[in-house]
Amino acid sequence: FTDSNHASIKVAEEIAALIRKKQGQNKTCVLGLATGSSPIRVYEELVRQHKEEGLSFKNVVTFNLDEYLPMEKSNIQSYHYFMHEHLFNHIDIPSENIHIPDGTLAPEAIVAYCLAYDKKIKEFGGLDFQLLGIGRTGHIGFNEPGSHYNSGTRVITLDHITRVDAAPSFLGIDNVPRKAITMGIATVRKSKRIVLLGWGQNKADILKQTIEGDITSHVPATYLQNHDNCTFVLDTGAGSELT
Ligand code: F6R
Repeated sequence: FTDSNHASIKVAEEIAALIRKKQGQNKTCVLGLATGSSPIRVYEELVRQHKEEGLSFKNVVTFNLDEYLPMEKSNIQSYHYFMHEHLFNHIDIPSENIHIPDGTLAPEAIVAYCLAYDKKIKEFGGLDFQLLGIGRTGHIGFNEPGSHYNSGTRVITLDHITRVDAAPSFLGIDNVPRKAITMGIATVRKSKRIVLLGWGQNKADILKQTIEGDITSHVPATYLQNHDNCTFVLDTGAGSELT
């Protein structure tokens, strides 16, 4: 796409169509959601469709990809806060349908919590649609370089580059948490449909490696290459290094 605005509207339209289709079948629509700058315009468009076109989220269940650890829900840097600010506060999704990894857990409770997160996704029939962004390390969710193909939801140590990129919103790198809870590569790859958003020139290099490079744990997003229903939605800058 020549611009991310138009691209975001197309992606939102696909999500809205899926929600409506599932409604027509009296079924739950299970969405995997991302935070960060990339999906903001998609969420804006979904909110617009809710307010102006009657799109209902009553049959939608969501699972977010990740959350910093430790992180209070009320903290404005939390992904919990982000999701409510950009989407959940403005639509009619029942609050019990929202799942965001909990950054407040005691260390000894986290492993069981992560296993239960994956189990819950499975119990809902798996993700129908997973929205992704990509980090400059090639992470999807917070699956940093070294992440295993078969990984499930777990605690991850954030890459230095990821912490550098997050530093402005935390007013300095020292304030950026060193860890996070993230859905795993396997969790994401089990989704029936995956759409990855990439905007701007500063994503061009990692997107070239992701799309045209060999599949490798050094660039976890390359694991998407052999998913059978995955689309990369890029603007001109993000796609500028593709051959
Ligand atoms: C966030 C997430 C991350 C971001 C990635 C890109 O939930 O899963 O993988 O998608 O760090 O972030 P932005 O969109 O801010 O460039």
